Amino acid sequence: MTMRLVRTELVDSREILPGQWLQSFLAPELSSGSRAGQFVHARTGDLSGLVLRRPFSINTADPATGVITIHFRTIGRGTEWFTRLRPGDTVEMLGPLGRPFEVDPRSRHLLLIAGGLGMAGVRSLADEAINHGRQVTLLFGAASARDVYPSSLLPDEVEYVIATDDGSVGHKGFVTELVPDYEGWADQAFACGPAPMLAALARIAEGRRERLGVAKLGRKRGVGKPDVVGSTAARRKAFLQVSMEQNMGCAVGACLGCVIMGTNGVPQRVCREGPVFAAEEVAWESGW
Ligand code: FES
Repeated sequence: MTMRLVRTELVDSREILPGQWLQSFLAPELSSGSRAGQFVHARTGDLSGLVLRRPFSINTADPATGVITIHFRTIGRGTEWFTRLRPGDTVEMLGPLGRPFEVDPRSRHLLLIAGGLGMAGVRSLADEAINHGRQVTLLFGAASARDVYPSSLLPDEVEYVIATDDGSVGHKGFVTELVPDYEGWADQAFACGPAPMLAALARIAEGRRERLGVAKLGRKRGVGKPDVVGSTAARRKAFLQVSMEQNMGCAVGACLGCVIMGTNGVPQRVCREGPVFAAEEVAWESGW
Protein backbone atom coordinates (compact mmCIF):
# COMPACT_ATOMS: atom_id res chain seq x y z
CA MET A 1 0.00 0.00 0.00
CA THR A 2 1.23 3.49 -0.72
CA MET A 3 1.42 6.04 2.03
CA ARG A 4 -1.26 8.65 2.33
CA LEU A 5 -2.39 11.44 4.58
CA VAL A 6 -5.27 10.16 6.68
CA ARG A 7 -7.61 12.00 9.00
CA THR A 8 -8.05 9.84 12.10
CA GLU A 9 -10.34 10.13 15.10
CA LEU A 10 -9.38 9.37 18.69
CA VAL A 11 -11.66 6.74 20.20
CA ASP A 12 -9.81 5.80 23.39
CA SER A 13 -6.90 7.11 25.43
CA ARG A 14 -5.41 5.40 28.48
CA GLU A 15 -2.32 5.82 30.63
CA ILE A 16 -1.35 2.14 30.85
CA LEU A 17 1.88 2.67 32.80
CA PRO A 18 3.31 5.74 34.55
CA GLY A 19 3.91 8.21 31.71
CA GLN A 20 3.04 5.64 29.03
CA TRP A 21 -0.07 5.96 26.95
CA LEU A 22 -2.06 3.72 24.67
CA GLN A 23 -4.35 5.52 22.25
CA SER A 24 -6.81 4.12 19.74
CA PHE A 25 -7.70 5.92 16.54
CA LEU A 26 -10.34 5.18 13.97
CA ALA A 27 -8.31 4.93 10.76
CA PRO A 28 -9.68 2.26 8.40
CA GLU A 29 -7.21 3.21 5.63
CA LEU A 30 -4.30 2.45 7.96
CA SER A 31 -5.75 -0.52 9.83
CA SER A 32 -6.28 -2.55 6.68
CA GLY A 33 -3.31 -1.37 4.65
CA SER A 34 -0.40 -1.55 7.08
CA ARG A 35 1.93 -4.36 8.11
CA ALA A 36 3.74 -5.10 11.35
CA GLY A 37 6.84 -2.96 11.72
CA GLN A 38 5.48 0.05 9.87
CA PHE A 39 4.81 3.43 11.45
CA VAL A 40 2.82 6.62 11.05
CA HIS A 41 3.92 10.22 11.21
CA ALA A 42 1.29 12.15 13.15
CA ARG A 43 0.78 15.86 13.03
CA THR A 44 0.27 17.54 16.37
CA GLY A 45 -0.54 21.11 17.24
CA ASP A 46 -0.17 23.11 20.40
CA LEU A 47 -1.44 26.42 21.70
CA SER A 48 1.46 28.33 20.18
CA GLY A 49 0.25 27.15 16.79
CA LEU A 50 3.45 25.26 16.24
CA VAL A 51 3.08 22.13 14.17
CA LEU A 52 5.08 19.15 15.29
CA ARG A 53 5.20 15.78 13.64
CA ARG A 54 5.94 12.67 15.61
CA PRO A 55 6.59 9.12 14.39
CA PHE A 56 4.76 6.27 16.13
CA SER A 57 4.99 2.56 15.48
CA ILE A 58 1.65 1.08 14.54
CA ASN A 59 1.19 -0.81 17.81
CA THR A 60 -1.86 -2.76 16.68
CA ALA A 61 -4.07 -2.61 13.59
CA ASP A 62 -7.50 -4.19 13.46
CA PRO A 63 -9.06 -4.22 9.98
CA ALA A 64 -12.38 -5.48 11.44
CA THR A 65 -12.93 -2.35 13.55
CA GLY A 66 -10.79 0.07 11.52
CA VAL A 67 -8.84 0.95 14.67
CA ILE A 68 -5.09 1.37 15.05
CA THR A 69 -3.31 1.97 18.35
CA ILE A 70 -0.14 3.83 19.24
CA HIS A 71 1.87 3.42 22.46
CA PHE A 72 4.21 6.15 23.62
CA ARG A 73 5.91 7.78 26.54
CA THR A 74 5.41 11.50 27.21
CA ILE A 75 8.77 13.03 26.42
CA GLY A 76 7.96 16.53 25.24
CA ARG A 77 5.45 18.93 23.77
CA GLY A 78 4.44 16.71 20.87
CA THR A 79 3.59 13.70 22.98
CA GLU A 80 2.01 15.80 25.76
CA TRP A 81 -0.31 17.31 23.19
CA PHE A 82 -1.53 13.79 22.46
CA THR A 83 -2.38 13.08 26.09
CA ARG A 84 -4.78 16.05 26.11
CA LEU A 85 -6.80 14.72 23.18
CA ARG A 86 -10.37 13.65 23.87
CA PRO A 87 -12.51 11.09 22.05
CA GLY A 88 -13.80 12.61 18.84
CA ASP A 89 -10.71 14.79 18.32
CA THR A 90 -9.04 14.33 14.96
CA VAL A 91 -5.37 13.85 14.13
CA GLU A 92 -3.74 13.79 10.72
CA MET A 93 -1.43 10.86 10.15
CA LEU A 94 0.84 10.12 7.23
CA GLY A 95 1.26 6.41 6.69
CA PRO A 96 1.89 3.60 6.61
CA LEU A 97 5.60 4.41 6.42
CA GLY A 98 8.75 2.29 6.35
CA ARG A 99 9.48 -1.30 5.59
CA PRO A 100 7.75 -4.02 7.61
CA PHE A 101 9.03 -7.19 9.27
CA GLU A 102 9.33 -10.06 6.81
CA VAL A 103 8.45 -13.48 8.18
CA ASP A 104 9.73 -16.52 6.29
CA PRO A 105 6.62 -18.52 5.28
CA ARG A 106 8.29 -21.63 6.75
CA SER A 107 8.78 -20.13 10.20
CA ARG A 108 6.50 -21.63 12.84
CA HIS A 109 8.12 -20.33 16.04
CA LEU A 110 8.73 -16.60 16.35
CA LEU A 111 10.79 -15.07 19.13
CA LEU A 112 9.91 -11.43 19.75
CA ILE A 113 12.22 -9.37 21.95
CA ALA A 114 11.29 -5.92 23.23
CA GLY A 115 13.00 -3.46 25.52
CA GLY A 116 10.75 -0.85 27.15
CA LEU A 117 8.91 1.22 24.56
CA GLY A 118 10.29 -1.20 21.98
CA MET A 119 7.15 -3.17 22.71
CA ALA A 120 5.34 -0.83 20.33
CA GLY A 121 7.67 -1.90 17.53
CA VAL A 122 6.94 -5.64 17.76
CA ARG A 123 3.46 -5.69 19.30
CA SER A 124 1.56 -5.92 16.04
CA LEU A 125 3.79 -8.72 14.76
CA ALA A 126 2.44 -10.85 17.64
CA ASP A 127 -1.09 -10.41 16.27
CA GLU A 128 -0.01 -11.02 12.68
CA ALA A 129 1.88 -14.18 13.60
CA ILE A 130 -0.93 -15.64 15.70
CA ASN A 131 -3.45 -14.92 12.96
CA HIS A 132 -1.21 -16.98 10.67
CA GLY A 133 -1.13 -19.89 13.12
CA ARG A 134 2.42 -19.31 14.35
CA GLN A 135 3.65 -19.67 17.92
CA VAL A 136 4.99 -16.56 19.60
CA THR A 137 7.23 -16.12 22.61
CA LEU A 138 7.74 -12.51 23.61
CA LEU A 139 10.72 -11.59 25.81
CA PHE A 140 10.29 -8.21 27.43
CA GLY A 141 12.81 -6.17 29.38
CA ALA A 142 12.17 -3.17 31.64
CA ALA A 143 13.82 -1.35 34.52
CA SER A 144 11.37 -2.61 37.14
CA ALA A 145 7.89 -4.06 37.69
CA ARG A 146 6.25 -0.64 37.36
CA ASP A 147 7.40 -0.41 33.73
CA VAL A 148 6.24 -3.84 32.64
CA TYR A 149 3.78 -3.89 29.76
CA PRO A 150 0.54 -5.48 31.05
CA SER A 151 0.05 -9.05 29.88
CA SER A 152 -3.69 -8.30 29.60
CA LEU A 153 -2.87 -6.18 26.53
CA LEU A 154 -1.30 -9.13 24.71
CA PRO A 155 -3.07 -11.96 22.89
CA ASP A 156 -3.64 -14.98 25.20
CA GLU A 157 -1.67 -17.20 22.84
CA VAL A 158 1.60 -15.33 23.43
CA GLU A 159 4.09 -16.81 25.87
CA TYR A 160 5.24 -13.72 27.74
CA VAL A 161 8.58 -13.79 29.57
CA ILE A 162 9.78 -10.80 31.57
CA ALA A 163 13.18 -9.56 32.71
CA THR A 164 13.70 -6.54 34.96
CA ASP A 165 16.92 -4.77 35.84
CA ASP A 166 16.09 -4.83 39.56
CA GLY A 167 14.51 -8.30 39.60
CA SER A 168 11.20 -6.94 40.94
CA VAL A 169 9.44 -9.27 38.52
CA GLY A 170 10.71 -12.06 36.29
CA HIS A 171 14.36 -12.67 35.48
CA LYS A 172 16.77 -10.27 37.20
CA GLY A 173 18.98 -8.83 34.50
CA PHE A 174 18.90 -7.95 30.83
CA VAL A 175 16.28 -9.36 28.50
CA THR A 176 19.11 -10.46 26.19
CA GLU A 177 20.14 -13.01 28.85
CA LEU A 178 16.90 -14.89 28.20
CA VAL A 179 17.59 -15.41 24.52
CA PRO A 180 19.86 -18.51 24.79
CA ASP A 181 16.93 -20.47 26.29
CA TYR A 182 14.86 -19.86 23.16
CA GLU A 183 17.28 -19.66 20.27
CA GLY A 184 17.02 -23.38 19.54
CA TRP A 185 13.24 -23.20 19.50
CA ALA A 186 12.95 -20.06 17.40
CA ASP A 187 12.89 -20.13 13.62
CA GLN A 188 13.26 -16.38 13.51
CA ALA A 189 13.63 -13.49 15.95
CA PHE A 190 12.32 -9.91 15.76
CA ALA A 191 13.44 -7.19 18.12
CA CYS A 192 12.86 -3.56 18.99
CA GLY A 193 14.46 -1.53 21.73
CA PRO A 194 17.46 0.63 22.57
CA ALA A 195 20.45 0.32 20.19
CA PRO A 196 22.76 -1.37 22.75
CA MET A 197 20.14 -4.09 23.25
CA LEU A 198 19.80 -4.62 19.50
CA ALA A 199 23.58 -4.70 19.07
CA ALA A 200 23.85 -7.36 21.80
CA LEU A 201 21.16 -9.42 20.07
CA ALA A 202 22.97 -9.08 16.75
CA ARG A 203 26.12 -10.52 18.38
CA ILE A 204 24.13 -13.44 19.79
CA ALA A 205 22.51 -14.08 16.40
CA GLU A 206 25.89 -14.09 14.66
CA GLY A 207 27.13 -17.02 16.69
CA ARG A 208 23.91 -18.97 16.50
CA ARG A 209 24.66 -21.08 13.46
CA GLU A 210 27.88 -22.40 15.00
CA ARG A 211 26.27 -23.08 18.37
CA LEU A 212 23.24 -24.91 17.01
CA GLY A 213 24.76 -26.56 13.99
CA VAL A 214 22.60 -26.08 10.92
CA ALA A 215 19.61 -23.98 11.85
CA LYS A 216 16.23 -25.60 11.38
CA LEU A 217 15.51 -23.72 8.19
CA GLY A 218 19.16 -23.48 7.22
CA ARG A 219 19.25 -26.52 5.01
CA LYS A 220 16.94 -24.95 2.48
CA ARG A 221 18.12 -21.45 3.15
CA GLY A 222 21.69 -21.74 1.90
CA VAL A 223 20.65 -23.17 -1.45
CA GLY A 224 20.20 -21.26 -4.70
CA LYS A 225 21.48 -17.93 -5.82
CA PRO A 226 22.18 -15.40 -3.09
CA ASP A 227 19.63 -12.70 -2.42
CA VAL A 228 20.53 -9.07 -3.00
CA VAL A 229 21.59 -7.35 0.21
CA GLY A 230 18.78 -5.12 1.44
CA SER A 231 16.14 -6.93 -0.60
CA THR A 232 12.89 -8.16 0.88
CA ALA A 233 13.97 -11.73 0.21
CA ALA A 234 17.26 -11.31 2.10
CA ARG A 235 15.41 -9.75 5.00
CA ARG A 236 12.86 -12.56 5.06
CA LYS A 237 15.61 -15.15 5.43
CA ALA A 238 17.45 -13.34 8.22
CA PHE A 239 17.24 -15.04 11.60
CA LEU A 240 17.16 -11.69 13.40
CA GLN A 241 15.34 -8.60 12.19
CA VAL A 242 15.51 -5.40 14.21
CA SER A 243 13.31 -2.33 14.26
CA MET A 244 15.47 0.71 14.94
CA GLU A 245 14.27 3.40 17.34
CA GLN A 246 16.02 6.32 15.71
CA ASN A 247 15.18 9.97 16.12
CA MET A 248 13.40 11.18 13.04
CA GLY A 249 12.76 14.51 11.42
CA CYS A 250 10.83 14.38 8.18
CA ALA A 251 10.09 10.60 8.24
CA VAL A 252 9.88 10.55 4.44
CA GLY A 253 13.52 10.22 3.44
CA ALA A 254 14.41 13.87 2.85
CA CYS A 255 16.26 15.26 5.89
CA LEU A 256 18.80 12.46 6.55
CA GLY A 257 18.26 13.00 10.28
CA CYS A 258 17.72 9.30 10.90
CA VAL A 259 20.73 7.80 9.15
CA ILE A 260 22.62 4.76 10.42
CA MET A 261 25.52 2.99 8.69
CA GLY A 262 24.94 -0.18 6.72
CA THR A 263 27.45 -3.03 6.53
CA ASN A 264 27.55 -2.37 2.78
CA GLY A 265 29.14 1.01 3.55
CA VAL A 266 26.05 2.90 2.47
CA PRO A 267 24.19 5.13 4.94
CA GLN A 268 20.71 3.80 5.60
CA ARG A 269 17.73 6.01 6.36
CA VAL A 270 15.78 4.41 9.19
CA CYS A 271 12.55 6.03 7.94
CA ARG A 272 12.88 4.69 4.37
CA GLU A 273 15.27 1.74 4.22
CA GLY A 274 14.05 0.77 7.72
CA PRO A 275 12.84 0.92 10.39
CA VAL A 276 13.21 -2.85 10.06
CA PHE A 277 16.60 -4.21 9.05
CA ALA A 278 18.16 -7.65 8.99
CA ALA A 279 20.64 -7.56 11.88
CA GLU A 280 23.54 -8.22 9.50
CA GLU A 281 22.65 -5.16 7.40
CA VAL A 282 23.56 -2.80 10.26
CA ALA A 283 27.14 -1.74 11.08
CA TRP A 284 26.62 -1.85 14.86
CA GLU A 285 30.14 -0.81 15.77
CA SER A 286 30.09 2.41 13.72
CA GLY A 287 28.28 4.40 16.45
CA TRP A 288 26.21 6.65 14.21
S1 FES B 1 13.68 11.25 9.11
FE1 FES B 1 14.20 12.52 7.44
S2 FES B 1 15.33 11.17 6.17
FE2 FES B 1 14.60 9.88 7.75
